[in-house]
Amino acid sequence: MSEQRRIAILTGGGDCPGLNAVIRAAVKTARGYGWEVYGIRNGFDGLRRADSFRLSRERVRGILHTGGTILGSTNRIDPFAVQVDDHVEDQSDQVIENFQNEGFDALVTIGGDGTQAIAYKFWQRGIPVVAVPKTIDNDVSATDVTFGFDTAVETARDAIDKLHPTAESHQRVMVVELMGRTVGWIALHAGIAGGADVILIPEIPFDIDRVCAAVERRYAGGRRFAIVVVAEGAVPINDKLNLAGLTRDIMQSPLTNQVAHYIQAKTGHVVRGMVLGHLQRGGSPTTYDRVLGSRYGAAAVRLVRDHKYGRMVALRGTEIVSVPLEDAIAQVRAVDPAGDLVQTARDLGIAFGD
Ligand code: F6P
Repeated sequence: MSEQRRIAILTGGGDCPGLNAVIRAAVKTARGYGWEVYGIRNGFDGLRRADSFRLSRERVRGILHTGGTILGSTNRIDPFAVQVDDHVEDQSDQVIENFQNEGFDALVTIGGDGTQAIAYKFWQRGIPVVAVPKTIDNDVSATDVTFGFDTAVETARDAIDKLHPTAESHQRVMVVELMGRTVGWIALHAGIAGGADVILIPEIPFDIDRVCAAVERRYAGGRRFAIVVVAEGAVPINDKLNLAGLTRDIMQSPLTNQVAHYIQAKTGHVVRGMVLGHLQRGGSPTTYDRVLGSRYGAAAVRLVRDHKYGRMVALRGTEIVSVPLEDAIAQVRAVDPAGDLVQTARDLGIAFGD
């Protein structure tokens, strides 16, 4: 039996399928060493409020297949900059004090680049941090894949599959917006797997007239329907779309709305649009995400065992490794417009509007 340790674990940022698989694996692995794990509620906010509870073996039973996070999460609180009334306060000292008062030996932070940027600052201030990369967007550097991405792509691909028959039956253009923040991984993977005709991603700015031309070519070729996938962060190359003054709100996506209207006006084909939204963050994690999440959770505790702090578990090829946390937050991992995936899509006849 190794020395007794108390590990704190939190989930930060947007939830995604597989978070519970990571938590469960961390708790089970820690138990193997005779250690205790404490769940922090709602990300760093829970540490700020000293809001934690013991994660017993019973507490993590039956959660492997569930979406969301049993710990709760937030993408709104940064303890280094907390909005209090009309001013911003640095409450990081409070977090460090709470961490020490609870007698925690290590902090496992499961999150995307925002959460890990905060984790890195706490690591610099002496908190022993181990990070686990999470996000449906797949945009964390220094790892090939984040868990949650595979499930989101499955959901998006399934939606595209379901749009096909109605598009074909009504000879319509279906425009579907997918998540991904500032990168196009979900759109590209789901678009290729779902047989999209056009995929618009932030990494390849598009000209809406070229999108229309691609749709027209398809109709002229005898396929009298089209599927256009729009990543939420897609960027028009010029100002042909009327986006001025429009901002994203709870329901609307001005970009996809404008893309759909423009195609209908220019081509004369009937267009319908939809925003898949937070459905992509839901559902039971795929086998891939359950396995990857479990590998990450177990590997994170092994890093604690080896006192390897300030590091993030990562997938490189087929191996789980660890990388310096600063490498993970250095930049957003974007799609390579000259890479194989984009080239494959082009070879398949998919247009990017460039
Ligand atoms: O980062 C995950 C993600 O779902 C992005 O794809 C999306 O842009 C964002 O979070 C949505 O955030 P919120 O849940 O705050 O609307």
